[in-house]
Amino acid sequence: MKTSEIRQKFLSFFESKGHQVVASSSLVPANDPTLLFTNAGMVQFKDVFTGKESRPYSRATTAQRCVRAGGKHNDLENVGYTARHHTFFEMLGNFSFGDYFKRDAIHYAWELLTKVYGLPADKLTVTVYQEDDEAYDIWDKEIGVPRERIIRIGDNKGGRYASDNFWQMADTGPCGPCSEVFYDHGPEIWGGPPGSPEEDGDRYIEIWNLVFMQFERSADGTMTPLPSPCVDTGMGLERIAAVLQHVHSNYEIDLFQALIKAAARETGTSDLGNNSLKVIADHIRACSFLIVDGVIPGNEGRGYVLRRIIRRALRHGHKLGQSSLFFHRLVGDLVQQMGQAYPELATQQGRVEHVLRQEEERFSETLEHGIKILDAALADVPEHGVLDGQTLFTLYDTYGFPVDLTADICRERNVNVDLEGFEAAMNQQREQARAAGKFKAAGSLSYSGVDTRFEGYEHLQGLGTVTGLYIDGTSVSSVQAGQAAVVVLDATPFYAESGGQVGDSGVLEGGGVHFRVDDTQKIQSNVFGHHGTLMEGTLTVGDTVDARVDAVRRARTVRNHSATHLMHKALRQVLGDHVQQRGSLVDAEKTRFDFAHDAPMTAQQIAEVERIVNDEVLSNQPANARVMPYDEAVKGGAMALFGEKYGDTVRVLDIGFSRELCGGTHVARTGDIGLFKIVSEGGVAAGVRRVEAITGDNAVRWVQQASDTLAQAAGLLRTQPAGLTERIQQMQGQIKQLERDLDQAKSKLAASAGSDLASQAIAMPGDARLLVANIAGADPKALRGMVDQLKDKLKSAVVLLATVADDKISLVGGVTADLASKVKAGELVSMVAAQIGGKGGGRPEMAMGGGSDIASLPDATASVEAWVRERLA
Ligand code: ALA
Repeated sequence: MKTSEIRQKFLSFFESKGHQVVASSSLVPANDPTLLFTNAGMVQFKDVFTGKESRPYSRATTAQRCVRAGGKHNDLENVGYTARHHTFFEMLGNFSFGDYFKRDAIHYAWELLTKVYGLPADKLTVTVYQEDDEAYDIWDKEIGVPRERIIRIGDNKGGRYASDNFWQMADTGPCGPCSEVFYDHGPEIWGGPPGSPEEDGDRYIEIWNLVFMQFERSADGTMTPLPSPCVDTGMGLERIAAVLQHVHSNYEIDLFQALIKAAARETGTSDLGNNSLKVIADHIRACSFLIVDGVIPGNEGRGYVLRRIIRRALRHGHKLGQSSLFFHRLVGDLVQQMGQAYPELATQQGRVEHVLRQEEERFSETLEHGIKILDAALADVPEHGVLDGQTLFTLYDTYGFPVDLTADICRERNVNVDLEGFEAAMNQQREQARAAGKFKAAGSLSYSGVDTRFEGYEHLQGLGTVTGLYIDGTSVSSVQAGQAAVVVLDATPFYAESGGQVGDSGVLEGGGVHFRVDDTQKIQSNVFGHHGTLMEGTLTVGDTVDARVDAVRRARTVRNHSATHLMHKALRQVLGDHVQQRGSLVDAEKTRFDFAHDAPMTAQQIAEVERIVNDEVLSNQPANARVMPYDEAVKGGAMALFGEKYGDTVRVLDIGFSRELCGGTHVARTGDIGLFKIVSEGGVAAGVRRVEAITGDNAVRWVQQASDTLAQAAGLLRTQPAGLTERIQQMQGQIKQLERDLDQAKSKLAASAGSDLASQAIAMPGDARLLVANIAGADPKALRGMVDQLKDKLKSAVVLLATVADDKISLVGGVTADLASKVKAGELVSMVAAQIGGKGGGRPEMAMGGGSDIASLPDATASVEAWVRERLA
């Protein structure tokens, strides 16, 4: 049975039992900061289990794409070394949301395995959780599995509920006892039943996990019963395919064999059993699907996991001797295997290839070099020794080797790695970076007073009481005029830098005090530090001051911030939904916005984004902020930022056509933004673009300057701005013509110089003549023509011309045909070149060369006469 058939039969079976067939969800879990990747079929139903969300059906079945790399379930390191580990796999599952429970779940599983898939009942062994008599009895009395093949498993992993038969999605979330079905591959394979000392062998393989969801685990470990008990099952498609295709390793199933052959083709490998091919076949699946789901290789979070997987695949390609780009070429093969079941893969093939290719190009530059460094370091490490942390760090920092990649290579050589040493080197670098940052240390000020109440959404001015003062990082009770300090207030209109928006500047005044605020930064999440200098008076803890934000700077900043939201939305409209914010910096000058997109924007796309944003500005919609629960916000369509953590309640900002979660300050109406103009677009990393844009008076100034420049340029060229392009094209034509004329003139000049030179030739044995000359100021390109002409003129001659341009010596040698058997131009030129620190060569009648040692040129040319004379004699 082909893998695709197995998948289809599973879904059809449960459909016939009243289950809704639901499409696989994305590998990036929606609205779930607790989970790196979708790692099981139940992830998309998590909120349905807990009762937070309801669906129009109470039974569902899926084939869910999963990734277990990074996070609680991480199999990356095992891939390639075992028969059954994958970074990416498909999980077949059936789910009951408060509908059926243990009895039906077990009956369905048995029916599918033995009737539909036709597995012999005596090959199956099951486990139940130690305390789960109910499940035990169903297997025993209703299904009739012999008791010796129903095994109870307790808390075998240390701690309450820490058991192979108690499943949890992550450290928090829905969980419950489970019952697993094992397939016995037969006594010829080593291994024992679950729970036995030999359970890690390959004889008994778990094929299906039936989880009886009963609790929700919270961060402090409390188990709360779910509103109603549910069922969540998971069967690894690749495993069941191996069983049904009578092969032992998942990598032997039809789907993997096709990918392994493709990997062999692209790496020129003939041994299809090579483990590196398995790694590549596994990794192309994970990488392609992650990219389909919007992950882009990067240095953090999901992007970094993707990067690690890609780099691991590339390293295995390198190990197979493939030094050019190959990985992205496997995407087509994957589409052939899986494109039908996952249409989103097929439609994005081109994009996936592009992203992978870029990452390949990026890493191939350093891969080879890094491996050399590592090889050199490993030469000094004995087997079972330890590779030091500094080398790990250098490979990471300079050569882009993720630590697990280096560890992977070390493992092949039986060498361990010093992860602590690596962390130490990493921390040291972080410290240095921190020390270099100006205000970054503010986060370390110790403060235990009241929180700062932020009043800057409504006002730019207000009274506040000083609750903390710091000089050079130390808490003080008062500050004197002339001192730089950090002031904490119990209430302030000053915005502290966060969410990409810079902190406010302004003044704190009152009772003879004048404190100039240059920047505002958070000391703790709700405590704001005003950084600046006391210009007059004495400021003491307990004083009340009048805090006034620099309104002009703030107004410019908010214009840029609001424009960022509109631009984000416009970029998605113009470029597609894969555009996700990767970073932003909003200050009074500009907004700088980084986002995931893998090609430069065209001029039309930029113009389109500008047009859309300016249309929103002109429509002059009000901005509106509301605080609400996170879930409600996301359900209402608010754009949550990728990889960002949010609290339970969030601030939702509606402005024009955009709705985003945002704590920043904004304009009252879109019209306040004024003119919006994109001023630059470029790449910052693979798959990440950066746009800078300006607004309001900045944009007006920019446009005025641009038009001034145009007017000046037009004036210089004696035309109008509108006629500038045409005028420049005209001039370019003229320049080309002039260059052609110049070239002609030069060769004419060379010809006449040639005739002058001819008279300087000296006589040689026979009728031959020799001409050696260093021609100052000649164009090196013209030398060749001159030599040809001199040969014509002198009839029987050896000619060597040199010239110096840009500190480089050019040499051209020529010998007429009658002499070429005795004197070879190639030898002549290389003889001279060797004396001036260079090289040369060519044919017997014409050769070229060069050098750089100008001081030696006279001696070198002087040596020619004797050299030629000897050969002609
Ligand atoms: N969620 C369960 C698992 O992943 C079925 O094993």
